[in-house]
Amino acid sequence: MAIRLGDIAPDFTADTSEGTIEFHKYLGDGWGVLFSHPKDYTPVCTTELGRVASLKSEFDKRNVKVIALSVDPVDSHKGWIKDINETQNCSVNYPIIADPEKKVSEMYDMIHPNALNNLTVRSVFIIGPDKTVKLTLTYPASTGRNFDEILRVIDSLQLTANYQVATPVDWKHGDDCVVVPAIKTEDIPAKFPKGHKVIKPYLRTTPQPDL
Ligand code: BEZ
Repeated sequence: MAIRLGDIAPDFTADTSEGTIEFHKYLGDGWGVLFSHPKDYTPVCTTELGRVASLKSEFDKRNVKVIALSVDPVDSHKGWIKDINETQNCSVNYPIIADPEKKVSEMYDMIHPNALNNLTVRSVFIIGPDKTVKLTLTYPASTGRNFDEILRVIDSLQLTANYQVATPVDWKHGDDCVVVPAIKTEDIPAKFPKGHKVIKPYLRTTPQPDL
């Protein structure tokens, strides 16, 4: 059964490149990103895992723990990490789950046999502090993901959680935000003292509240 937005992210215990991890405990009270890749020692995956390592300070800033997964065993991950560090000029600083028995992959519906036989596709799950799934994303094996976009979604989700604003099309850090429909227009000035615009009764914008 596929995992849907709003579902509790299934908990599990798994071997990783950094030892055994209990997933919910690993996430603690913060946010999480769980992402799968098809296979160790493959080119696109090597670039992706290097990029995620280089973005560590950006994830830390947002109180996000990152964890990767593939169906290869721990020894393979450990050998491959040396190559990632060497070729991507980084130091892999997050755990990679070893899932040779496909326990977690099946729990999270990361194997799409009609697209990629027996290997995990490029899935992403963003998980909130309440352990519910806030975003799911599935990319094909041949397309590396854009982790700047993952950070952008986390920023949007955190703005919604903390300030009751949504983000419009192509929103970037610093752009105006959209006041969520649940807030009445007459309540906007008290809640958003930086100002607001009423473009339509259902389309109200305000400067990004946390700047
Ligand atoms: C890669 O990471 O380069 C890759 C993995 C599986 C299939 C195609 C590409």
